[in-house]
Amino acid sequence: MLCLNTLTEKLTIVMEFSMHSRFLLRSLGTSLATCGLALTLVCGPAPASLAANPAYESTPQGAKAEQFVDHLLGQMTLEEKLGQMSQIPLNQQWDVSPDERILKGQVGSFLFITDAKEINRLQHLAVEHGPNHIPLIFGFDVIHGFRTIYPIPLALAASWDPADVERTQSMAAREASAVGVNWTFAPMVDIARDARWGRILEGAGEDPYLGSRMAEAQVRGFQGATIGSPDHILACVKHFAGYGAAEGGRDYDSVEISDNELWNVYLPPFKAAVDAGAGSVMSAYMDLNGVPATGNTFLLRDVLRDKWKFDGFVVSDWDSVLNLTTHGFASGPEDAAARAANAGVDMEMTSHVMRDHLADAVKKGLVKESTIDEAVRRILMMKYRLGLFQHPYVDLARVNEEEGSAAQHEASKVAAERTAVLLRNENNLLPLAKSVKSIAVIGPLADSKPDTMGSWSLAGDTAATVTVLQGIRNRFGSTATITSTKGVEIERGQPSIFDSQFPSPDPELKTDAEREAEFNHAIDLVKQADVSVLVLGEAQNMSGERASRLSLTLPGKQEQLLEAAVATGKPVVLVLLNARPLNITWASTHVPAILDAWYPGTEGGNAVAALLAGDANPGGKLPVTWPRSVGQVPIFYAHNLTQIPNDRDAMYWDGLSAPLYPFGYGLSYTSFRLSNLKVSAPSVKSGGSLKVSVDVANVGSVAGDEVVQLYTHQRSGSASRPARELKGFERVSVKPGEQRTVTLTLNTKDLGFWSEATHRWSIEPGMFDLWIGTDSTAKDHAIFTVLP
Ligand code: BGC
Repeated sequence: MLCLNTLTEKLTIVMEFSMHSRFLLRSLGTSLATCGLALTLVCGPAPASLAANPAYESTPQGAKAEQFVDHLLGQMTLEEKLGQMSQIPLNQQWDVSPDERILKGQVGSFLFITDAKEINRLQHLAVEHGPNHIPLIFGFDVIHGFRTIYPIPLALAASWDPADVERTQSMAAREASAVGVNWTFAPMVDIARDARWGRILEGAGEDPYLGSRMAEAQVRGFQGATIGSPDHILACVKHFAGYGAAEGGRDYDSVEISDNELWNVYLPPFKAAVDAGAGSVMSAYMDLNGVPATGNTFLLRDVLRDKWKFDGFVVSDWDSVLNLTTHGFASGPEDAAARAANAGVDMEMTSHVMRDHLADAVKKGLVKESTIDEAVRRILMMKYRLGLFQHPYVDLARVNEEEGSAAQHEASKVAAERTAVLLRNENNLLPLAKSVKSIAVIGPLADSKPDTMGSWSLAGDTAATVTVLQGIRNRFGSTATITSTKGVEIERGQPSIFDSQFPSPDPELKTDAEREAEFNHAIDLVKQADVSVLVLGEAQNMSGERASRLSLTLPGKQEQLLEAAVATGKPVVLVLLNARPLNITWASTHVPAILDAWYPGTEGGNAVAALLAGDANPGGKLPVTWPRSVGQVPIFYAHNLTQIPNDRDAMYWDGLSAPLYPFGYGLSYTSFRLSNLKVSAPSVKSGGSLKVSVDVANVGSVAGDEVVQLYTHQRSGSASRPARELKGFERVSVKPGEQRTVTLTLNTKDLGFWSEATHRWSIEPGMFDLWIGTDSTAKDHAIFTVLP
C-alpha cells in the first residue's frame, strides 16, 4: 500500500508538472517492479524465444527475414499491428497497465526503462505470452553515454576526429545494451547556427560537412558494422528535419528554411546518417515551412523514402503525432493519426492516437491497410535485424561487468581530453608550472557533479562523476595546496523539464550579506594562491531541451567574479563548462588562459586536471563560430559574399561583426607550421577527385595534435556559393621537431550543391579557390578548375 501511495504521488507530480516532466521514469519503473503493482505473471525459465514463436517455427531455418516478417504479419490482427506502432513511456497515468497492453498486443516499444530485470520481465511477458510472441524494443536517450557519461555531442564534434566519436558512441552502446536498451534516440544531426537555441549542444554545430562526418561516425559507433552487431544498439537520426533553425532560437518554434538551405545545409547530415545505415529516424516537433514535420509527406516520403531509399522505420517525437492538432494542422486525434501514418510515421512516441484511431481510419478509407502493413513490416524487420527475435533477453551477468567499468572510465577521460578547446593561453600560462604550490579552484560549477556531466545524462552515475575540483585535487594534491569555494551561485530561475532528474539545488546563500561574504572569500583565496582556476559557465539545466536563452552572458554574477579575480593581478585560468558559445568577450582580452571543457562527463575533472598539468595537450577545435555578442546570431562562417565583401567584419555601426573566435579555431601547448601546399592537378573532371597535401611541422617543444582543414569556394555558377565551405579535414598527432605530410582527398562530388536557379543538385564546372589551414580563416591558397 505504501508502495502504491508513493507511486500515486509520483504520478501526480508527473502529471501536474508538465507533459514533459517524464524523467521520474527510472525510479517509477523500479517502483512498479518492486511493489508488484504491475500485473503479476509468473514467468518460468526462459524458453528460447524464437523457438517459442509459432510464426518462426513455421518458417524454415535460415529463411530470409522478409519471409519471416511477412509470415508474422499475416498472423496479426489490425489492432495487433497498431500495437507494434505504439511506444509507451513509463511515466503515464495508465488507464491500462503496461503488462496488460503487452498481453493484448497493444505495445511494440517502451522508452525510458533502464532496469535490466524489469526489461527482462516485460520481454518475457511479450515473447512468451504476447499474442504473436513479438519482442519489444526498448528505447532510451543514450546521447553522450549511459551510466558513464561522455562529453556532450557538440564537444565530440570539437574533437574533429570521427574515429574518436565512433569509439565513444560504441562504448556508450556497449554500456546501454548491457541493461537491455536496444535503441538510442541519437545521433541528433540538426545543424545549429544560433547559440540561443538550447539544443545546440546535442548536435555537431554549424557545418554540414563536419556534421555529416560526425553523423556517420555516431551511427557506426552505436550500431557497429551492421544492425544487430553484438553489444551495439539501433541509432535514431533526429530530428527530421530543420529543428535547429527555430525562429529566434526558441525551442519548438516554427522553422522557415529555403530550399537552398534545406538541401545544402540542413539535410546533408541526415543523408549521411541514412547512407551510413541508420536504422531509424525521428520526425521533428516543429512546423517546417508551415507543415509540421511529423505530418510532412515531403520530408518523410518524398525525401526520406523515395529519394534516399531509407529502409528503416520512422518514430515520431514525444507526443508529436497528437500535437499535429495543437499546430492547427490536424482537425482532431483521428485526423492527426491518419495524416502522420500517411506522411510516413511508423511508430508513435508517447501519445497513442495511432493506436486508438487508425483502425477506424482504415475502415473509413482515410488510411489504407497496406500503409499500416508497410509501417509494421519496417518495425518488425528492424526487430529481426537487431536479433531481438533470436536473443530477446538481457544477460544479467553483463550488467555489472559493463556498467562504469574501468574501460568506460578510461574512454570517458580520453574523450574529454580530446574534445577540450584551448581558446587563449597568454605567455604559456598553461600548462601550469611545476613550481605552482597553491591553486584556488573557484566557481559555482567547480565541484558540481551534474554540471560536469551535462544535460541528457538521465541514467548517468552522478556519484561516480569527478568534478574539476576533485580532478585538480587528484592531480595536484600531493604537490600543491588546493583551496576552493563557489564565490557565487547560479540559478536557472524557471523550472526545467529535467528537474525531476537533476533537481535545481536551492541557493545556500540567502542574504546579500552572505552573498557578499562568499564573493569576498573567493577573491581572498585568489589573492592567496599562486594561480586560480575559475570554473564558470552554465549549469547543465541552462541548456538542452526547452532551455533557450535571450542572452549568452555568464549567468548570475560570474562575470563580476571573474573580473574581480583578474583584478587581483594574480594569474587566472578560466575553465568553461558549457554547451553553447557564451559571451566571454571581456575574458578574451583580459583572462590569460581560457580552456573550453564543455560538459566533459564522468571523468571530466580528471581530464581537465590532466590538461591543466600538461599530461594531455588540448587539440580540439570549435565546431561553431563563437559570437562576441548575442546580437550577431545566427552567425556562421559559410555565408555568401556581398557587394562589399571586405566590409564583412564591420557590418554593424555599434560593434564588430567579426566573431570572437572563428569556426575551426583552437590552440595547443605547442605550435605548428603548415607549408608546401600541393594540389595534385590544376583541374579535375566532374566526378573525379584531387589530392591536396600540406606539410605540418611541430615547431614547439611538446607533442600535440593539429587539425588540418580544407575549405573551398566556387567562384561563379548558377547560384552564389558560400565564401568558404569545409570540404576535408584530418586531425594528426605530431611530435616536437617532427614534420608530417597530410594528404586530403577532395572529391568533386562534395562540391555539388542544390541550386535555386536550376532546382537540381549538380557539380558545376568552373574555377574554385582552395585554402588549407587550421581554422576557417585559413590563408594558404590555391586554385583549381572543375571540368565538365
Ligand atoms: C526530444 C527527443 C527525445 C525524446 C525522448 C523529446 O522531447 O525532442 O529528442 O529523444 O523527447 O526523450
